[in-house]
Amino acid sequence: MKTIAVFTSGGDSPGMNACIRAVVRTATSLGITTIGIERGYEGMINNETRKLQPRDVGNIIQTGGTILKTARSKQFMTPEGREKAYQTLVQHEIEGVIAIGGDGTFRGANVFAQTYNIPFIGIPGTIDNDMAGTDFTIGFDTATNTVVQAIDKIRDTASSHERLFFVEVMGRDAGYIALWSGLAGGAEAIFIPETHSNIQLLAEDLKKSHKKFSIVVVAEGDDAGNAFEVAEKVKQHLPADYDIRVTVLGHIQRGGNPTCADRLLATRLGVAAVQALQSNEKNVMVGIVKNEIVYTPLLQAVKTHLSIDRNLIEIAKMLSV
Ligand code: F6P
Repeated sequence: MKTIAVFTSGGDSPGMNACIRAVVRTATSLGITTIGIERGYEGMINNETRKLQPRDVGNIIQTGGTILKTARSKQFMTPEGREKAYQTLVQHEIEGVIAIGGDGTFRGANVFAQTYNIPFIGIPGTIDNDMAGTDFTIGFDTATNTVVQAIDKIRDTASSHERLFFVEVMGRDAGYIALWSGLAGGAEAIFIPETHSNIQLLAEDLKKSHKKFSIVVVAEGDDAGNAFEVAEKVKQHLPADYDIRVTVLGHIQRGGNPTCADRLLATRLGVAAVQALQSNEKNVMVGIVKNEIVYTPLLQAVKTHLSIDRNLIEIAKMLSV
């Protein structure tokens, strides 16, 4: 193998740069040239590429975002778009591609693999932690730490004013960010899509405990609605003197310097992806399960949801008394 490509796609996540760095430097140490493709599949279609040398990825291990930019490509969903992308890979004599991203990125790679014979290796890069075949995705640790810091701050003002706060966090249709940050932030209740959210029960609990100051974490994909909707529904069951506020944390969860855990995860997965290409793996995602590198077929990684830890859900319920 002489030349490989790397790109980032979908929603960015802290640690993507550390991962690009690991890919480029591992490839270099094996005598392989790395081509960076910009703006995900869009750049692959439009031939937005540049050679990446070890010095090009210096001083980025600590930065959030992605030096390769990212995008969600509609064109790649069409056969014409994929054909153009293939021509870019052929033009640069690319023999293997490393795709850092989430659900949509891997679905795209999987469709591409049905027509073209260039191996793809996926690396799970998303704050949502919603992929099977890895215990953690790159960016999840940083995002949850960002959320916990935000909850700590909200807690100060919530307690001073004796207010009930609903804090909405990201995660698309998964509740990992909410569950982890809610537990670590000492939330009164955590509403996640994986469990039925009982509005009335929360209101009853609040009334029983006579608590006016509380934090409720709501995952954006929760079955009871977004944080504004949940807050409105809970309000209907509470006395009028409850002072309710809603904070939507939004995209701050996607930025910032990656934590040590994310930098290490990104580095190990970047190295593993190049090694996977070298050992002729194709169309698999590299992940880490119980501290071991594992390969999971791309489609399986996106189709099978990593099952949420029921034990953590029970702990959260037990502690919110
Ligand atoms: O998948 C990552 C994610 O941040 C989700 O948690 C969120 O639902 C979505 O991306 C937001 O996407 P956008 O950046 O396009 O608003």
